[in-house]
Amino acid sequence: MTDTTIPPLTRNDAALDFLLTRRSRPAKTIKGPGPDRAALETILTAAARTPDHGALVPWRFIVLGKEALETYAGALQAAGERLGIEQGNIDKPATVYAQSPCAVVVVYSPKDAAKVPAIEQQYSAGAVCLSLVNAALATGWAASWVSGWHSHDPQFTAEQLGVTADEKVAGIIHIGTEGMVPPERPRPDLSQIVTWK
Ligand SMILES: Cc1cc2nc3c(=O)[nH]c(=O)nc-3n(C[C@H](O)[C@H](O)[C@H](O)COP(=O)(O)O)c2cc1C
Repeated sequence: MTDTTIPPLTRNDAALDFLLTRRSRPAKTIKGPGPDRAALETILTAAARTPDHGALVPWRFIVLGKEALETYAGALQAAGERLGIEQGNIDKPATVYAQSPCAVVVVYSPKDAAKVPAIEQQYSAGAVCLSLVNAALATGWAASWVSGWHSHDPQFTAEQLGVTADEKVAGIIHIGTEGMVPPERPRPDLSQIVTWK
């Protein structure tokens, strides 16, 4: 069956230039304003268009607006104390989350499927995170994929985000206004990572 909404392949220099120069913005430099709901829906639609073996959709999104981010930031102190986290590693994310205008939590939410092992579903969730970063950058927003002790703690993510025991946070993508253009970071040397056969 032909899907007429898919354009035939031709060289897309703008897309290629984007992929060859794309760069996240450090989360601590992202400030308001952030995207409104309509802009976010475009970004989320692009992110959801991600390779997913068996079309299981083993991921979901939680959008944190300003108030939700302030609540998240405020909950870090008690959780950090419970987990014995060093004060500096509590303060750092607390500052980032309190200043961020918007963040999307990508929740890995595996489905029962005999032919699609959990690891493939997890890869798909990771791919969604990158697509989300790229869609935000391509729309002109600063974006950063972050994690941290809080995003990996089941009690914290259950209490703050409603993440269930079967799920995990794959990534938290902050999206907002660019505070600075970071210098390029070293990129892998292809000669070290590619085997040509
Ligand atoms: C799973 C995952 C978790 C990450 N967590 C953090 C984090 O907590 N803090 C941080 O500064 N960067 C974190 N990063 C790194 C940044 O998202 C990003 O990879 C880095 O800034 C380079 O991005 P770029 O290739 O878009 O320039 C994480 C990356 C991944 C893939």
